[in-house]
Amino acid sequence: MLKKSIVIVLFLGIFSALFIVLDNMNNSIKQAERAGVVQQEIVKVKEKTKNKIKKAEIVGQDPVTAGYGLFKRRCLGCHTSDKGAPNRTGPNLWGIVNRPKGSSEGFRYSRQLHLLGGVWTEAEISTFIAGPRAMIKDTKMTFSGIRIEKARLNIIAYLKTLKD
Ligand code: HEC
Repeated sequence: MLKKSIVIVLFLGIFSALFIVLDNMNNSIKQAERAGVVQQEIVKVKEKTKNKIKKAEIVGQDPVTAGYGLFKRRCLGCHTSDKGAPNRTGPNLWGIVNRPKGSSEGFRYSRQLHLLGGVWTEAEISTFIAGPRAMIKDTKMTFSGIRIEKARLNIIAYLKTLKD
C-alpha cells in the first residue's frame, strides 16, 4: 500500500515537473513570436518613412534651403554639385540649369539622353526628376522620381544657385 502511494506521488511529481517545463517552453516560443512581429512592424514603418519628403522641405523654409535639404537626401548620393567636382554614378551638376544636356566631361550618358540636344530648362529638369524613365526611356538614372511639384521646384531653386 505504502509502495503504491510512493509510486503515485512520484508519478504525479514527474508529471507536474514535465508540465511546468512544457509550459515554459510554450511561453518562450510565444514571446519570440511576438518579438518577431514587432521587429517586422518596425522594419515596415522605417521603409514607409524612408523616402517620404519632410514637411519642412516643402513649406516653412525658403526654397533654396529646402531644396538643398532635399538635394542632400535624394540626389547627392549620385551627384556632386560643386564646381569641378568629379562625376559619380551620375554626372556632376554644377551649372546644370541651362547647361547643354549630356555635357559633363568624361561621363558616359545613356544613348537617348545623349541624343536629346539643347539645354536643360527648368521645366525639363522638373519633368525629368518627376520620373526619369517617363521622359528618357533608357536613362541610366535609376531614380523613382519626386511626385510633389513644390519639392521639385525647391530642388530647382537650389540647382539655380550652382553657378558663378
Ligand atoms: C541613383 C543615382 C541617381 C540619383 C539618386 C539621382 N540621379 Fe540624376 N542622374 C543619374 C545618372 C546615372 C544620370 C545620367 C543619366 C543618363 O545618362 O541617362 C543622371 C542625370 C541627371 C541629369 C542630367 C545631367 C546632364 O548632364 O545632362 C540631371 C539634371 C539629374 N540627373 C538631376 C538629378 C536630381 C536633381 C536628383 C535628385 C532629385 C537626381 N538626379 C538623383 C543618377 C542619379
